[in-house]
Amino acid sequence: MYMIKLAIFGFGAVGRGVAKILIDKERIRRLIGEYTVVAIADSKGAIISDSIDLKKALEIKNKEGSLPERLTVDEIIDSVDFDVALELTPTNIKTGEPGLTHIKKCLKKGCHVVTSNKGPLVVAYKELMKLAEKNNVKLMFEATVGGAMPVIKLIKRDLAGNNIISIKGILNGTCNYILSKMEKEKLPYDVVLSEAKELGIAEANESYDVEGIDSAAKLVILANALMNMDVKFDDVEIVGITKITPEAFEIAMEKGYTIRLIAEVNEQTLKVGPRLVSLNNPLCIHGTLNAVLIKTDLAKEVFVIGRGAGSIETASAVISDLAEIYSCEVNK
Ligand code: HSE
Repeated sequence: MYMIKLAIFGFGAVGRGVAKILIDKERIRRLIGEYTVVAIADSKGAIISDSIDLKKALEIKNKEGSLPERLTVDEIIDSVDFDVALELTPTNIKTGEPGLTHIKKCLKKGCHVVTSNKGPLVVAYKELMKLAEKNNVKLMFEATVGGAMPVIKLIKRDLAGNNIISIKGILNGTCNYILSKMEKEKLPYDVVLSEAKELGIAEANESYDVEGIDSAAKLVILANALMNMDVKFDDVEIVGITKITPEAFEIAMEKGYTIRLIAEVNEQTLKVGPRLVSLNNPLCIHGTLNAVLIKTDLAKEVFVIGRGAGSIETASAVISDLAEIYSCEVNK
């Protein structure tokens, strides 16, 4: 039986979450058949072997902070034979790098790519999809939007045949955590932001979250991938949550509303900003949850909710993409 060779690029929270799930051989074999991990790279080093011991790799990463072999991702792509790259490096929304270069090289080499990195898709969605098609491989990106919450494959596969009229929802767990905590505990913004940072749910640069940048990036991915649009990050009108006060919550609550950071795309607009949400609206969710309301012409309204951030949760979306790539072959 063919042994699928996986390469993991990026060994931060998501990469380590993926490695932990891949240790469970029985679970993954049922999805994709026989597999082995042949390369793991972080920002400083790598491990290369025909069959990497993932437990050991995680131990080394925890103990040493980085992986031992002095090899870059580019060098690995050039020299190591693999079938699928799990591109899990951090997001840069302006340049898409380093993920953009990694993904292009892997697709050109004829390898499938599964990514959690928003940057490359925000910067070059159409170009990357064309490149994947030309090379007869798949580029999958469920983990880029909504963490574990299924939305991309749900719309592409389960709502196939529908025209998507609008997508509206909460796409940033950090902001939702901050706002729902401000609502419940009547605490000021800065105090709750510090808590969110301690919990490790915020991006390395938390302004990505609280200025609405992360939500806008996810909205661009949804618009291009699911609504056949060709939009850029600059097309999104963005307002963050940094100016929301406990007083604003008090006034809203008196009238039966709360405040949430809402991202919305329809034919006319792409917007991210704090909005009043009725307390009995399904979008009135708490903690790091994400949720979206999808309006379509045939199925009408579909609502999804799920964990929008977290290591294992986001890794769950990466694994589901991997399963999707190989599902046809396994089911033959
Ligand atoms: N920082 C993001 C969030 C998680 O809080 O939703 C990754 O997209």
